[in-house]
Amino acid sequence: MDRIYIFEQIRENNNLLSLPQVLSEILEEVEKEDFSQESLGKIILRDAPLTTNILKVANSPFYARFKEIKTVNQAIAILGVTTVKCLALSTSVFHTDRVKKDSGMDAQEFFGYTISIAATSEKIAKTIGFKAPEEALTAGLLSDIGTIFFLHHYPKEYKKLLENSNKFTSLSESERNVFGVDHSEVGAQIALNWKLPEYILDSIKNHHSISTTEQDSVLTNIVKLASLLSVESFTECQTDIKERGEAIRLVSECLSMTKEKVDEVAFSLLSCSIELSQYLGVDIGDHEKILSKANQEIWKSYLTIENLYKERQELADKLLIEEHHRGASEQKNITMATLSHYLNNTAMAIYGRSQIMRMLHTSNKNEELIEKMDAFLNIIDEAIRKFVAVLDEMKEVSPIDKIDLHDISDALNLDDKIAKRMQKMEESQDWVVTSDIKEKA
Ligand SMILES: [Fe+2]
Repeated sequence: MDRIYIFEQIRENNNLLSLPQVLSEILEEVEKEDFSQESLGKIILRDAPLTTNILKVANSPFYARFKEIKTVNQAIAILGVTTVKCLALSTSVFHTDRVKKDSGMDAQEFFGYTISIAATSEKIAKTIGFKAPEEALTAGLLSDIGTIFFLHHYPKEYKKLLENSNKFTSLSESERNVFGVDHSEVGAQIALNWKLPEYILDSIKNHHSISTTEQDSVLTNIVKLASLLSVESFTECQTDIKERGEAIRLVSECLSMTKEKVDEVAFSLLSCSIELSQYLGVDIGDHEKILSKANQEIWKSYLTIENLYKERQELADKLLIEEHHRGASEQKNITMATLSHYLNNTAMAIYGRSQIMRMLHTSNKNEELIEKMDAFLNIIDEAIRKFVAVLDEMKEVSPIDKIDLHDISDALNLDDKIAKRMQKMEESQDWVVTSDIKEKA
């Protein structure tokens, strides 16, 4: 199998991914010279699930308007023809039967990842004041269309690819090794077939290409940054964490985003994804499971940062005495960075739970809310205590320029230090956690 064969297969097969009749008609209609919104609306109305989805998105907070959008024509006017076309495509594509069972891929997990890229793209677009956030959302939704092609047409080969995957090779690289082409190139070819606008095609083609960042459009870099921030929990293939950090820095700089703004986006990633999946009616699985997976992934990256930190310590031990001060100061910077990540982790734990509680409440799932309340509050209590302990630790290390950490070991064992502080807090009368309230009651 090679790229030429796959490209021919895409070019020759007009019903690629077996598009339903109504979608083929939509694609045809929007290409007509005498195209009108009314005729597009009539085609959409023949497909009830698609009509519902387009109205849902037009009325969602992503396109918050003062009055309710009741007709498909109003929705087309608000969302624009390109967005409606892309939504129609994604509605058809996000079907569990697109992902063949023998591909070994968990459809919910994969759709969750794609939804996360779409929601994050939209959030980044709004954060940087990009003129059309809805274009970013649709570009994100379609970014991994090439992967769906592989999962649909080559499920067994893809299963083998996933089984042989490892953390030293990226997914795109593994795909190129097996198919001679990766999902970005395949996706771009599909976009060409579907006659999607060039800016969407480019964003699909280059959404993992770091080397082209400086030449890429703002939209492409938005989807690229969203892909870098989203957790690829469905595969062992991972970009090296140092490389990923460097790529995030480069792409966010090109988008004129500060580190704080990137953190803000990453922080809201999970709740935005859950919200978008609900509006699009895409099943991405149990929210609690997603939350804990996301936290595990974040924790893995913290462990890597800690390992880097320990490697630096070994290096610092070897430094000559005259260089010791410089090494110590660098250690303090790394310590502060590690502590900041602890803070992000705890904040994420609190925010994630509060978002799920709010969603259960607004969707009137009060029984489920009451059932999970105690466990959630305990997690929040634990996270808050860790938050305070980390802040205390930070105060001790800061200000960086005034304290000399000549003994590098002072900057180590953060886990122990934080655990001791938390222990102290538990013993203190000032701290009351839910379990204490229960006991006292
Ligand atoms: Fe991708």
